[in-house]
This record gives sequence, structure tokens and C-alpha cells, in this order.
Amino acid sequence: MMGAPGAGKGTQARLLASRRGLTHVSTGDMLRQADEAGTEVGRTARRYMNQGQLVPDDIMVGLVAERLARNDCGNGFVLDGFPRTVRQAESFAARGQALEAVIALVVPEAELVERLSGRRVCRRCGTMYHLSFSPPTTAGRCDRCDGELYQREDDLEQTIRERMAVYARDTAPVLEHYRRAGLLREVSGSGDPEEVFSRVTASLQ
Ligand code: AP5
Repeated sequence: MMGAPGAGKGTQARLLASRRGLTHVSTGDMLRQADEAGTEVGRTARRYMNQGQLVPDDIMVGLVAERLARNDCGNGFVLDGFPRTVRQAESFAARGQALEAVIALVVPEAELVERLSGRRVCRRCGTMYHLSFSPPTTAGRCDRCDGELYQREDDLEQTIRERMAVYARDTAPVLEHYRRAGLLREVSGSGDPEEVFSRVTASLQ
């Protein structure tokens, strides 16, 4: 699942995984968990993430290889946030693991900034909210588990702009790579998440 920051990769990848019995593998979530756990990878990653920069390829390629080797990926997975550079895509291809499709969610930039600056995430269960589009019932608390909602450090406006620039420079060429391979499905990511999901599933037929 590809797309600019805030395009809805996490939202759509979760829906696709839960409805098709696949495992959701989000590299952003993996890095945030490593940071929370206080590992060396997590500490290194945080420095890059908080500045809106990409974590170095050699760290990412190793992390993803380890994650995909686990049993729960045996029946299929939805990759969210990887690959993000042509080098990552080439390393992934060298593993010989087939991809069924590459979905790119396309959303206008003004909408992306609005989505990211209003995003809040549950510290306990990871459920995502948006202050205007999908607010929690009680301000600051998760509807599902009553956990505390927080704003990601990289969702501050200055960092959002940097993430967009990095996307255009390093990740947009990956789309071209998959277009040439005949795997790319470009889907509009605007509208209600269920509406977007219908387009995603249609693109896979
Ligand atoms: P990551 O966590 O992957 O962040 P990202 O790509 O910037 O994407 P986001 O999580 O911000 O957005 P999303 O597209 O998943 O949208 P979401 O569904 O959350 O990566 C973070 C950092 O980790 C990177 O900057 C980098 O430093 C590092 N990293 C990760 N992978 C890496 C790699 N492979 N290589 C190197 N570094 C790596 O939705 C966003 C908001 O919009 C939410 O509030 C949601 O509720 C709302 N929303 C979603 N869909 C809709 C809709 N249809 N309508 C209205 N609102 C919507």
C-alpha cells in the first residue's frame, strides 16, 4: 500500500488485512514500537522520523526481512510503508517474494495536510481518529479501550512539509518502478474510507 503521508495507507491496509485474513505489516508502526521498547533501532529511527526523514535502507531492509519471515505472514500480508526507495524495492525483489499488486492512494496535498494535522492515535491500541472527520466520543480518549489519544511528533506542520518533500524525491520514483513492472494500481484516496476501500478492492480484480 503506497501513497504520500496521510494518503490513508494505514487505514486501507488495516481494512484489507482484516477483511481478507492477511497480516498487516506497517513499517511506521514497527519503528514506533521499537522506539517505545527503547531498542537501539528504535532510538536511531526516532531521530530520522521526528525530522521527517527516511530511516536508512539497510535498517529497513533487515527489519522487513525479519518480519516477513514470521509464521503469521505465511498466508499473505499487506505491506504498508515499504518499499519507500528504489533501493528498498530492489532489495525486496531480490528476495524472490511475489507481489500481487501495488496500490497507490492518490490524494491532493491540501487534504493530506489537513488529515495529518488532525490525526490522533490511541497510545494503547493504535486506533486512529481525526479531530474533524472521525472524532472520538470523549475528547482525548479512545472509544475502544479508553486509552489516551496523542498526536504523533511527525504530525506537526513543519515536519509534515518535510515528509511530503521526501516522498516526492525518494518514494515517487518507486511508483514508476512498479508501473513499469505492470503492478501499479492508482486509486483515488479521497472520500469516505469505505468508499476508498471499494475502489481498492475493485482495483485488485
Ligand atoms: P509511516 O507511519 O508509514 O507514515 P507515513 O507514510 O508518513 O504515513 P502516515 O502514517 O502518516 O499516513 P497514512 O498514509 O498511513 O494515513 P492514515 O491511514 O494514517 O512512517 C513514519 C516514518 O517512519 C517515516 O516518515 C519514516 O521516517 C519512517 N519509515 C517508515 N517506513 C519506512 C521505510 N520503508 N523506509 C524508511 N523510513 C521509513 O490516515 C491519516 C489520517 O487521515 C488519519 O487521521 C485518518 O483517520 C485520516 N483518514 C484516513 N483515510 C481517510 C479518508 N478516506 N477520509 C478522511 N480522513 C481519512
